[in-house]
Amino acid sequence: MHESILVLDFGGQYNQLVARKVREQNVLAQVLPFTTPIEKIKEKGYKGIIFTGGQRSVRDDNSPRYVAEILNLGIPVLGIGYGAQLIASLEQGEIQSVSNECGNVDVSTQKSKLFKDVPSQISCYVNYSEYTVNVPNGYRVTATTKVCPCAAMENKQKNVFAIQFHPEVTSTEYGKQILKNFLFEICGCSGDWVMADFVNDSIGKYKSELSDSKVLCALSGGVDSSVAAVMLHKAIGKNLTCIFVDHGLLRKDEGDTVEQVFKQQFDMNLIRVNAQDRFLGKLAGVTDPERKRKIIGEEFIRVFEEESSKLGKMDYLVQGTIYPDIIESGVGDNAVIKSHHNVGGLPEDIDFKGIVEPLRDLFKDEVRKAGIELGIPEDLVWRQPFPGPGLAVRVMGGITKDRLDILREADAIFREEVANAGLEKEIGQYFAVLTDIKSVGVKNDARTYDYTVALRAVITSDFMTAQWAQIPYKILAKTSTRITNEVEHINRVVYDITSKPPATIEWE
Ligand code: XMP
Repeated sequence: MHESILVLDFGGQYNQLVARKVREQNVLAQVLPFTTPIEKIKEKGYKGIIFTGGQRSVRDDNSPRYVAEILNLGIPVLGIGYGAQLIASLEQGEIQSVSNECGNVDVSTQKSKLFKDVPSQISCYVNYSEYTVNVPNGYRVTATTKVCPCAAMENKQKNVFAIQFHPEVTSTEYGKQILKNFLFEICGCSGDWVMADFVNDSIGKYKSELSDSKVLCALSGGVDSSVAAVMLHKAIGKNLTCIFVDHGLLRKDEGDTVEQVFKQQFDMNLIRVNAQDRFLGKLAGVTDPERKRKIIGEEFIRVFEEESSKLGKMDYLVQGTIYPDIIESGVGDNAVIKSHHNVGGLPEDIDFKGIVEPLRDLFKDEVRKAGIELGIPEDLVWRQPFPGPGLAVRVMGGITKDRLDILREADAIFREEVANAGLEKEIGQYFAVLTDIKSVGVKNDARTYDYTVALRAVITSDFMTAQWAQIPYKILAKTSTRITNEVEHINRVVYDITSKPPATIEWE
């Protein structure tokens, strides 16, 4: 049994991010909804509880709340944002609505266990439209901003802490230190959790739950589905059958590599389905990105159903869904940014007992760590992510085999040049996009009218935000020359200098 922290979810955008920041400090975090009964929480023996932020106002009648008893269990509590207001409200403090403040503000901190080794002036990320004006009995203010009289408060006797700002967000200075203080100084955690535990616990869990089941895995060869597949393979061996759908939207030579690695290296049951014509047929003439995703997601599931019926009835389907896929697809209160094919595109009438998603709480860098723990070779683990809908979302406009082939060649050149420069690990993701812009050029003294390719490269660790990569001009120049010389029908190369947000990483 590991020491663990409960992250009580009040509907904020950063809930899993809080859990991940706790795990980063080698402490196990469990996220539960605010509807979880207090009896269940008491049973678990948590070392501490974190109330997350949320999008509502505690002054609304039907805002998410919790029983005040939770603050009297003798378990340290840290409330963040909405969670801080909730503490104030449960303890009869006075809260006032104010105009929304969002972004980084200067916070003055006072002496507190929570602010050990934190300077007295720090810049912190806030997003609020109400704050505490009169702190409850037994509490004292421990931080302020120019406008906010209570940016943090605490009750030392009860070990209850409330902060208006978000320590889990990277732009909050000393956010990591503040969480560390809560976990180690206040909750008394020792840091007894590592990624190997997650991997072993998951293998153990699936071994006991699924050893009598026949399980099918959607293997794409990308990091996520590879890690999910190897994890399940370790748990249930040959009861797992992996289906690798070659939808004709893969990168150059990718299909053969995947087949070789998983069949030979891991000795998995792997079936390669050549479904190019089927996917390209369905996608013919489709230009809308969301429709492309939905079509591919649905077709994927249909192919699996057909293959599984050939194998006899399969009980479960494994998918490599990771946490950013879920929030960006708009599960819960979060707005839909893009429907990731393995989440939003799922049809209602899936013919399996259920879906198994072993990585659904993890972020990309955590998935990589899990991959290393599972003994997956470094080059596969460090392979840059590739979206489920593949090159369909990198070919703007209509998708045809010819256009895909043009993109494959250009993309392979870009990847080769980045690798030659030794930048693969530094750059989170880098690829080419075939735009639907045609422009005039000149080649061998003759006029051309051909496509523009865009190169995209970003630096990111969690893929939720990303900075465009400042790749040296020399590499861009060589890539551009090679692409225009070696790939037919491309006469112009541009480089995308937009970060996420406001752009997303993929173009569609
Ligand atoms: P965006 O474009 O949303 O991408 O900033 C974030 C990360 O997710 C990948 N991505 C997907 N992965 N199915 C996936 O499995 C999808 O539909 C999908 N769309 C984007 C993208 O490549 C990047 O790593």
